[in-house]
Amino acid sequence: MPKKIIIANWKTNPATMREAVELARKTEFAVSRHRGVEVVIAPPFPFLAGVASALKRTKLGAQNAFWEDMGPYTGEVSWRQLKDMKVSHVIVGHSERRLFLGETDEMINKKVRALLEHGFTAVLCVGERERSGGEMPEEAAHQLKSALAGVRKSLLKNLIIAYEPVWAISTMPGSRADTPENAFQANVYIRKVVSGLFGRGIGTSVRVIYGGSVNAQNITSFLTDGRMQGALVGGASLDAEGFSDLLKRTSVV
Ligand code: PGA
Repeated sequence: MPKKIIIANWKTNPATMREAVELARKTEFAVSRHRGVEVVIAPPFPFLAGVASALKRTKLGAQNAFWEDMGPYTGEVSWRQLKDMKVSHVIVGHSERRLFLGETDEMINKKVRALLEHGFTAVLCVGERERSGGEMPEEAAHQLKSALAGVRKSLLKNLIIAYEPVWAISTMPGSRADTPENAFQANVYIRKVVSGLFGRGIGTSVRVIYGGSVNAQNITSFLTDGRMQGALVGGASLDAEGFSDLLKRTSVV
């Protein structure tokens, strides 16, 4: 059984390098106590180097990457620069980037392809904006198909799909975590879509994780009832104590 993976998405937090390094140190301490879980921290770009210096067992992630290696792209941070920083995992297509920063399916596809081609683990976020009833809306299937268009099958071992229903993200108004039962249905649905694209072998083996208001209290049910192979954790990754508890519970599943 592969290890469960917990990815801390710090988003645009904290405010200073000092706080970022402090949080990284505390997280690293928790990771060293709860072995058997693969842990990634994705801090804001300016803190990558400082956070990296505090990590030993914890892997370094990024929240975004540009698909070209370098050139005239003001404000972008490229996969090549991230490689130089020893970043191993990159979050792609997060709903906050899709919704607030105009990231398109085409851009996400370019990012996924560039990252996988260059040896990163791409953490592709998909998820619907709204759900009424039990049926999974088409939206996630569409996001998967467009993001994975033209990706070579042999590279998919480095893909992680994060199912993140937008309405479940803790900072969205009126948010609530998904139920483990719905997350399980989404898990099956995602695997069906991936099977349709790349065959059953990949549909079965691709890693699927859950994100959206995950915390120490609900992580176990997503991993057991939801059959998720890990989680993408936003708000709860900013509190070192709670995050340590979350890792502890993950380590015993
Ligand atoms: P949340 O964020 O855990 O605060 O809901 C998850 C995410 O947006 O990646």
